[in-house]
Amino acid sequence: DGELYLSRSLVNSSDKIIRKAGSSIFQHSVEGWKINSSLVLEIRKNILRFLDAERDVSVVKSSFKPGDVIHYVLDRRRTLNISQDLHSLLPEVSPMKNRRFKTCAVVGNSGILLDSQCGKEIDSHNFVIRCNLAPVVEFAADVGTKSDFITMNPSVVQRAFGGFRNESDREKFVHRLSMLNDSVLWIPAFMVKGGEKHVEWVNALILKNKLRVRTAYPSLRLIHAVRGYWLTNKVPIKRPSTGLLMYTLATRFCDEIHLYGFWPFPKDLNGKAVKYHYYDDLKYRYFSNASPHRMPLEFKTLNVLHNRGALKLTTGKCV
Ligand code: CTP
Repeated sequence: DGELYLSRSLVNSSDKIIRKAGSSIFQHSVEGWKINSSLVLEIRKNILRFLDAERDVSVVKSSFKPGDVIHYVLDRRRTLNISQDLHSLLPEVSPMKNRRFKTCAVVGNSGILLDSQCGKEIDSHNFVIRCNLAPVVEFAADVGTKSDFITMNPSVVQRAFGGFRNESDREKFVHRLSMLNDSVLWIPAFMVKGGEKHVEWVNALILKNKLRVRTAYPSLRLIHAVRGYWLTNKVPIKRPSTGLLMYTLATRFCDEIHLYGFWPFPKDLNGKAVKYHYYDDLKYRYFSNASPHRMPLEFKTLNVLHNRGALKLTTGKCV
């Protein structure tokens, strides 16, 4: 476990990190990579001490009734009312109950995916997890299209769908969701105040258009449990990023986890610019203390796990 330890100063100093990005600590060879099944089992067992992904991946209908008031997970002073629509979209049982897969892909949103030609390989996994409703069709050669589980922070409504201001934004959104068929749409609705209006609009559109997508809303304890696991392993994250959350959950369901699109750095190992997202022009300050995440630290941790055979991290080309 000592190997997982990463000092704070390493994370806080952007210069150092960028210099290090060109050096061996960020290098990981995919050739000759082999799964370490006993380590995979050990990690699953350890994570189970903190959370049970089958249960914590979503609250269920029987836990609430319409009108119940809950406190936001990261903003305990503020509250949310469970609306009729939200209640009707809560699953009866966990959407991940008894689901087990040989191989899974967790796809992050880094621009490192562009020109990777990883689409076919990603789609060949038994279960594909994606983040923040990232577009796929226009990028299929690099990112694939299979999406069995996809996350959506409420802020996506504003960022990618114009805040639903006009009909065409709403149509675009409904079209995107209809492509998901009966995949799981995972909406962290109880984290912080601010997105409740967006969540309500999303819920209303799903109901009105009778979309088949299977909605899930993470449990109130998930984020703390995930953070607790990583802190115990001496990885001092502030708040786990969606990508790290997905890897942590996936350890329960997947024997082999392959990560793509994880590269939270502005340049690749050859010094070429890398977009923050493969699909938009959002800028991100990876090393800012204002950011809720510590993605470079998360990356370093995942890299260590890659080198130990616990997961496979692909940041290069697939063919
Ligand atoms: N990611 C990465 N490198 C990037 C961009 C994203 O490693 N350049 C990973 C992170 O684990 C991130 C995930 O891909 O959580 C999904 O990306 P994104 O949708 O950008 O997540 P954010 O909105 O930035 O952050 P979050 O949803 O985690 O709050």
